[in-house]
Amino acid sequence: MLNHRLITSFTTPEQFINDAIRFLKKHAKDKKVFCALSGGIDSSTAYLLLKKANIDTIPIFIDHGLMRIIRSKEEREYIKQLFPKVKIIDIRDKFLPKIYGEEDAEKKRMLFKNAYSKIISKVIEDEDCDLLADGTILPDIEESFGVEINDLKETMSLKEEQNLMEKHKDGFIKSQHNLAIAYDVEATIQPVASLTKDEIRELLKDLDMPQELVYRKAFPGPALAARIIGAVTEENLSVEKKVHDIVESSIEDYYIKKYGEPMIINNLGEQEPFQVFAAISKEILNTKVTGMIEGKRSYEFPLAIKAKWDYDNLITLASTIKCFSRVLYELEVSLNGKFDIAIRCINSIDARTASVTKLPISFLHEIASKLLALEEIKSVYYDITPKPPGTIEYV
Ligand code: XMP
Repeated sequence: MLNHRLITSFTTPEQFINDAIRFLKKHAKDKKVFCALSGGIDSSTAYLLLKKANIDTIPIFIDHGLMRIIRSKEEREYIKQLFPKVKIIDIRDKFLPKIYGEEDAEKKRMLFKNAYSKIISKVIEDEDCDLLADGTILPDIEESFGVEINDLKETMSLKEEQNLMEKHKDGFIKSQHNLAIAYDVEATIQPVASLTKDEIRELLKDLDMPQELVYRKAFPGPALAARIIGAVTEENLSVEKKVHDIVESSIEDYYIKKYGEPMIINNLGEQEPFQVFAAISKEILNTKVTGMIEGKRSYEFPLAIKAKWDYDNLITLASTIKCFSRVLYELEVSLNGKFDIAIRCINSIDARTASVTKLPISFLHEIASKLLALEEIKSVYYDITPKPPGTIEYV
């Protein structure tokens, strides 16, 4: 099997779109292309470019029931509105019972991988697709291969790629990425492989996509399973969806009010905020969550602190944390309720490193009060750990 990836620099959206059309016509003209959409910006851009190049494409969206809700709207509703031709494959009834009760993070990831690959293989077979397009972007490529994209060729065999990956093995990064699975197609095609996240957003603006897609926050493949610490249950999933929506939309409103846009590029060149979410746990201080030690994912207990809010000093403290995986700043603690919530809001260029978003403490308390108004919530923390030494997600 082959991999075709567009290797070009991004000068302007027009230039890139022209290069992409030329590339797609060269490799996919008269072929049938499978394209899985995740709701995120990378796969959406890959699909839009395929459409621009008039390639016969089968777009699908797999609804496993663990997607986030944004402003009370399910991800599948957004995607259907944006791309009416997308075929929604609903596996909620089959998939959720499989993941309920599974505590181990890597096993949760495996369940997703297996479910996705099964469905993708079936659609490829049923629709007789020749190629599989995906939204792999530059940081994914550089992390997987450990080399710069210009060191790769436009077309490479799987064998050549495996050899290259072997040479630059990196346990931490690879263990959480959705591993390449060999599907029954002639080749995979990656039209946005040379783009960074902010170039993708620039392209989406140029393609007249609405603000809600252009500034869509990154979301992990294992979806809310990555934000539910411990086993996913019907109960915590439903609470997680509610709190996630409150946190993400409150912070989005704050940025729109302050800057007119839901995301800015800050003076470090980071997208601010890059990722925003709520993580849920029954007992967050008694549960090991991920951190990073020497580039590897490690599981340790978090440390909670109650102190006067002083962003700079607190971040300095959290940056040098040892023995604990991360530092949680206590916002509100009540005696009632069942779940602890950690608010995570980070700035980043490509998720490889991240800084903690500097939000006013009064605003953080406002969000905490909204969360505590839900009877299920007992305490709320703000995660003040940069990556490293923390990770973005908790599992
Ligand atoms: P961490 O937690 O490693 O996350 O700092 C870095 C980025 O990767 C996303 N993430 C994942 N994405 N499958 C994915 O497709 C995964 O298993 C996974 N785990 C984390 C995370 O949301 C962040 O953007």
